[in-house]
Amino acid sequence: MSTARLEYNGQSWDFPVIEGTEKEHGIDISELRSKTGLITLDEGYGNTGSCQSAITYIDGDIGILRYRGYPIEQLAEHSTFVETAWLVIYGQLPTEKQRQRFSDLLTKYAMIHESMRNHFQGFPTNAPPMAILSAMINAIGCFTPEVLGSDNELNFEENAARLLSQVRSIAAATFKMNAGQPMMYPRPEYKYAENFLHMMFSVPNARITPDPEVARALNQFLILHADHEQNCSTSTVRMVASSGANMYASVSAGVSALWGPLHGGANVAVVEMLEDIRKSGMTPQVYMEKVKDKNSNLRLMGFGHRVYRNFDPRSRILQKAADIILTKLKINDPLLDIARHLEDVALSDSYFVDRKLYPNVDFYSGIILRAIGIPLNMFTVMFAIGRMPGWIANYKEIHDATRLKINRPRQIYTGELIRDYIPRDQRM
Ligand code: CMC
Repeated sequence: MSTARLEYNGQSWDFPVIEGTEKEHGIDISELRSKTGLITLDEGYGNTGSCQSAITYIDGDIGILRYRGYPIEQLAEHSTFVETAWLVIYGQLPTEKQRQRFSDLLTKYAMIHESMRNHFQGFPTNAPPMAILSAMINAIGCFTPEVLGSDNELNFEENAARLLSQVRSIAAATFKMNAGQPMMYPRPEYKYAENFLHMMFSVPNARITPDPEVARALNQFLILHADHEQNCSTSTVRMVASSGANMYASVSAGVSALWGPLHGGANVAVVEMLEDIRKSGMTPQVYMEKVKDKNSNLRLMGFGHRVYRNFDPRSRILQKAADIILTKLKINDPLLDIARHLEDVALSDSYFVDRKLYPNVDFYSGIILRAIGIPLNMFTVMFAIGRMPGWIANYKEIHDATRLKINRPRQIYTGELIRDYIPRDQRM
C-alpha cells in the first residue's frame, strides 16, 4: 500500500493512500487528528472525500458519468427510470422477476394516504412546491410508523418503493393544488412516467392519454438526474442518515438542500435568465458582457460545475432530447435558440474557456420540462423526483454499513477568546 508523508514542526507521519476501482487516489487521514493533533481545512469540501461509495463514478475532467459502471449515455438510450432506479439502489440491472416485483410495489404504493390529502389544504395555494415536497416526504413516514426505523431487507424495499412512487403523487397533487384543480388518483395500468403525466394533466371530466414521446422524454430526464455522487443534497441525505434518522427524514432534508439556486434550483434560474434575455431583446453577447463584469454578480446559469471541468455529459444528451421533443410536439421555443446562442458565445469566450465552464445538466433541461407542460415553479421538484434513487441508494450505503458512524466534521474556531459575563447594566 502506498503512503503519503506529512511533515510538520520537525516531525513526520505516514498516511495510507486509498485507491478506488477507477484508480482514483485519496489520502486516508482518518487518524490525522489522533496522531498529529491537526485537522484539515477545506471549505466547500472541494478536496475532501467524505465516504467510499460504489454507486456513481464521475470523471469531471473528461466528462464521464456512470451509474454502477453503466455509462449514462447507454442508460438514457435504452433504460427506463424504474429500471435505472433499481440499478442505482441495488447495484445491478434487475432480472425480469426483480423488475416486476419492484414495479408491483410502485403500483401498490402509488396512492398517498387519504389523510395526507388534507395536509395540502394547510398550505397557502402559492406555497413553494419544494417546501411542500420536503414536508410531505416526512409526512409519509408519519403515516407508516410500522416501517419507520426498522432495518430488515423487506422493509427497506417497501420503504424505497413507497418513497419513489409517492414522490410523484405528491408532486402532482402539489401542482393540482396550485392550479385549483381536483387531485387525481394514480392508475394501475400506467407505467411510472405515464402515471405522473396522468396525475398532472388529467382532470376528473377529461382524462388525458399520456403521449409515449412525452413519457420517453420524461424518462430520460429522470434517468439523467438519478444520481450524481456526493453533491450538496446527497451529502445532506448521508449526513442526516448517519445520525440514524429514517429514510423519509433523510431524503426530506435532501429536498431542502436541492432547493437552492446553486444546486437543483438552477433549472428554474436558467429559464428565468433565458426569459429575461428574450423579453429585454438583449443579444446573448451583451448578456455575456454583464456576466463577465465582476460587479454585476450575474452568473450564466446552467454553466459551470464543481466537478466537471468539461462538458457535463448530461447536458449533451438533454440538448439532443430537447431538439427531438420540440420537433415531435411541433413546438418552436425561442428560449432554445437563445440557449444555443449563449452556449456558442460562451464556448468561444476566454472567460469561460479559461475557467473551464461548460453547460451543465440544468442548461437544457428546462426547455424539455416546458415542452412537457411542467410549470416553472415545479422544475426543481422534477429534479427531486429524478434524484430519488440516488438519495435512497446513498441512504442504503449508510444504513447497510456494519457500524453506524455519525458524520461530524470539525472546525477551526475563529471567535472570541474566553471572557467574563457582563451584567446587563454594565454593557456599553
Ligand atoms: N457564470 C459566470 N462565472 C462563473 C460561473 C457561471 N455560471 N460559474 C463559475 N464562474 C466563475 C466564478 O465567478 C469564478 O471566477 P473567478 O475565479 O474569477 O472568481 C470561477 O468561475 C470559479 O467559480 P466557483 O464559484 O469557485 O466554482 P464552483 O465550483 O464553486 O461553483 C457552481 C460551481 C455550479 C456553483 C457555479 O459554476 C455556478 O454558480 N454555476 C451557475 C449555477 C448552476 O448552473 N448550478 C447548477 C449546477 S449543476 C446541477 C447540480 O448539481 O445542482
